[in-house]
Amino acid sequence: MSPTAAFTPALTSRLPQVGTTIFTVMSALATEHKAVNLGQGFPDFACDPALVNAVTAAMQAGHNQYPPMVGVPVLRQAIAAKMEALHQHRYDANTEITITAGATQAILTAILAIVHPGDEVIVLEPCYDSYVPNIELAGGVAVRVPLTPGTFRPDFTKIAAAMTPRTRAILINSPHNPSATIWSEADMLALQDLLAPTDVLLISDEVYVIGTPN
Ligand SMILES: Cc1ncc(COP(=O)(O)O)c(C=O)c1O
Repeated sequence: MSPTAAFTPALTSRLPQVGTTIFTVMSALATEHKAVNLGQGFPDFACDPALVNAVTAAMQAGHNQYPPMVGVPVLRQAIAAKMEALHQHRYDANTEITITAGATQAILTAILAIVHPGDEVIVLEPCYDSYVPNIELAGGVAVRVPLTPGTFRPDFTKIAAAMTPRTRAILINSPHNPSATIWSEADMLALQDLLAPTDVLLISDEVYVIGTPN
């Protein structure tokens, strides 16, 4: 045996099939060709000074320590109040709301928490590029169901046909990246009818919902 054989082999990727993300590719091309970059959401406006001032004041007041794992209570309560004003549904700020560092982390965290090796997770294609690698990182199998060509609306016949006893979750996205399609109330109710008799979990990526309460 060679003297190095007892050591862990050289680093091998757990996601070897994942290359450079489309965001990196498109942003590099936009820079190279001096093109308007529609591939990634770079805001073309300055941060509201009120936010800069509030963050600065909070840090100067010493609010720069570890928060509780689920996020500071006042933020969770504010989110619960906003959700109630927007959707007339009260979430418990202590048990039903967790703060994450953005949606990418929230999605990965949710998937790692619920997906066991061999579990199937339905994604509606085209979908945001972190979903499938996240499912595979958890040892799950991404079951790709195409959105309706042209309209990008969910096809419930196809979704129903993709559900099996191994289906752990379905991951939806509205408003949808990249088509901007928004799920209608009828779409939501159709999904509710489909999932109600099952234990399939719904992961709903609503990263672009910015609604203003009435
Ligand atoms: C559909 C979708 N989900 C999640 C994200 C990631 O959100 P965040 O920047 O909060 O991690 C994006 C960003 O482009 C997105 O388009």
